[in-house]
Amino acid sequence: MQVRKAVLPVAGWGTRFLPATKAMPKEMFPIIDKPVIQFIVEECLSANIENVIFVTGRHKRPIEHHFDINTDLEKHLEQCGKTDLLKNIMEISRLINPIYIRQKEQLGLGHAVLVAEPVVGYEPFIVALGDIVVKDERNILERMIEVYNRFGKSVIAVFEVDTKDISKYGIINGRYIEKDIYIIDDLVEKPKQQEAPSNLAIVGRYLFTPRIFEKLKITPPGKGGEIQLTDAIRLLLEDEAVYAIKIDARVYDTGTPIGYIKTVLDFALQKEDLRDELIAYLRQLISNNIPQIDTV
Ligand code: G1P
Repeated sequence: MQVRKAVLPVAGWGTRFLPATKAMPKEMFPIIDKPVIQFIVEECLSANIENVIFVTGRHKRPIEHHFDINTDLEKHLEQCGKTDLLKNIMEISRLINPIYIRQKEQLGLGHAVLVAEPVVGYEPFIVALGDIVVKDERNILERMIEVYNRFGKSVIAVFEVDTKDISKYGIINGRYIEKDIYIIDDLVEKPKQQEAPSNLAIVGRYLFTPRIFEKLKITPPGKGGEIQLTDAIRLLLEDEAVYAIKIDARVYDTGTPIGYIKTVLDFALQKEDLRDELIAYLRQLISNNIPQIDTV
C-alpha cells in the first residue's frame, strides 16, 4: 500500500526551552527566517507526502496560523510591491492540506502517535518529529519509503552517535543485512551508555505499518512515566520484522538550547548573505574576545 500520510507530533511542552516555549511552540523557532516545522513539512513534501497530520496541544496555534492563508498580510505585501516576500508567504500557505488533531494530555510520544490513528486509518504512515531537522543528499523519507516498498514492513532511520550521547536517544540492536540496512532485534529507549546494545540511535523519522497502533494501545508507561514509541516498536517486533536504515546525514536537534544554537549557526554559515560577517565575528570571538559569563 502506498505511503501517503505523515504524522508530526508537535504537542510537547518544550520544557527544555522554557520560558521561551510558554506561549510559543519550539517548532516555530526560526532557523534564520524559516520556522523549524517548515523544514519538516518540506521534507515530507519532497517525498511526495502531502497529507500532514499535526498532533498538537493547547499552546500550538501559531503552527496552524503559519500554514494558513493570511489574506491581510498578502494584501499588504501586494500593496507595498514586495513581490518576492508575497510569493514566499503564499507558497507556505498553500504547501499542504494540514490536519490538526489535539493530544489532550501529554502522555508521551507513543501516545501522541496513537492520537492520530482515526486520521491515519489502516495504512502505512510516516512519523517525523517536529524538532529534528535532517540534512542529507537524498531525502531520507524517500529512502525509507523505498525500503518499505521492498519489505512491506516498518522502517526506522538511525544514525551513529558518540557514546557520550547514547543516553539521549532510542538505541537499536540490529543485524546488518546489506548496505545501510539492518533488521532490528531489539531496541531500548535512552539506555545508560554501558547498557546500550550499539551506538545506532533513532533519528526521529519512522515509517510504520498500521499494526503499531495495536501495540501503542497496550504499551505501558516507560522511561519518564511516558508511553514511549520505542517500547511500542519493541512489542511490534514480537509480530513482525522492523527494519532500520542507517543514514549519514546531519541531524539537528533544535529542541534543546545548545542544539538550536548549533543549528542556527550551521545554517547561517551556509547562507551567502550571512556567512562572511558571521565567520569574521566568530574569528574575532575566538581569537581574543570570548565574552565572560555575565554575573549581573
Ligand atoms: C525521541 C525518541 C527517541 C529518539 C529521539 C530522536 O526522544 O523517544 O527514541 O531517539 O526522539 O530525537 P525525545 O528526544 O523526544 O525525548
